[in-house]
Amino acid sequence: MLVAEGISLVYPNHNGGLQALRDVSFQVAPQEFMCLIGPSGAGKSSLLHILAGLEQPTAGRVLVEGRPLTAPQRRIGFVFQKANLMPWRTVLSNVMLPLELAGVPRAEAQKRALELIALVGLSGFENAYPSSLSGGMEQRAAIARALVHDPPILLLDEPFGSLDALTRERMALELLRIWEARRKTVVMVTHSIPEALFLADRVLVLGPRPGHIVAHITVPLPRPRTLDMLYDKAFGDLSDRVRAAIGINGSS
Ligand SMILES: Nc1ncnc2c1ncn2[C@@H]1O[C@H](COP(=O)(O)OP(=O)(O)OP(=O)(O)O)[C@@H](O)[C@H]1O
Ligand SMILES: [Mg+2]
Repeated sequence: MLVAEGISLVYPNHNGGLQALRDVSFQVAPQEFMCLIGPSGAGKSSLLHILAGLEQPTAGRVLVEGRPLTAPQRRIGFVFQKANLMPWRTVLSNVMLPLELAGVPRAEAQKRALELIALVGLSGFENAYPSSLSGGMEQRAAIARALVHDPPILLLDEPFGSLDALTRERMALELLRIWEARRKTVVMVTHSIPEALFLADRVLVLGPRPGHIVAHITVPLPRPRTLDMLYDKAFGDLSDRVRAAIGINGSS
């Protein structure tokens, strides 16, 4: 579904360039949920931008369903770390915005937006402005907006990064529910090892700059996932493996 082939990225600077990514290759299968984890500055956001066609790699290429990606596409939804909603637009009109821009007739756009608002659990808040929403609600509106073209691929860059631990847990469950309902191919960046293991079929670990793959860890936990799995021994063992790959020592 999504293939990264030998991706390298050098950001130009006055010092011969800053290498952010080095020879990153992987494949994501249709409907697979992959998490990307790694230390700050490892190039996770850069890689996600390349997968979205928002940034061009210096070397290598991205294939989407076998075709090289050269520009952003409607087939790829993107959720930024900050919700980035338009403050002067209501939830409904934020979610409708991509459809408006694509020239979808208003009635049709509204129907699709309302469905997604229900899917992310924001019914009743269609006419609310972003300033009156909690952080988690804003993120859910942003997820609805990213899903509005019904993209087969959804990319999320630390979508719960700014939320407290409890809200984060609820959002993770919510995201799984949405993924189970819509079966997208997902690549999500997170800093949280439990979150990555709870959500993903596979965790890709990037080592420090220049970002390169240090481990692919398959998560064999059964689905549907439940929060009590977080306390299973299998979960603890997987966490240890991810920690070891990242280079965090000691046990916890
Ligand atoms: N637009 C840019 N121009 C120049 N350098 C950049 C740009 N964006 C990122 N970088 C550099 O590339 C490297 C990787 O940055 P990136 O944001 O991809 O890391 P990250 O893994 O997402 O980090 P974090 O976990 O802190 O979000 C960093 O050294 C950063 O300074
Ligand atoms: Mg980042």
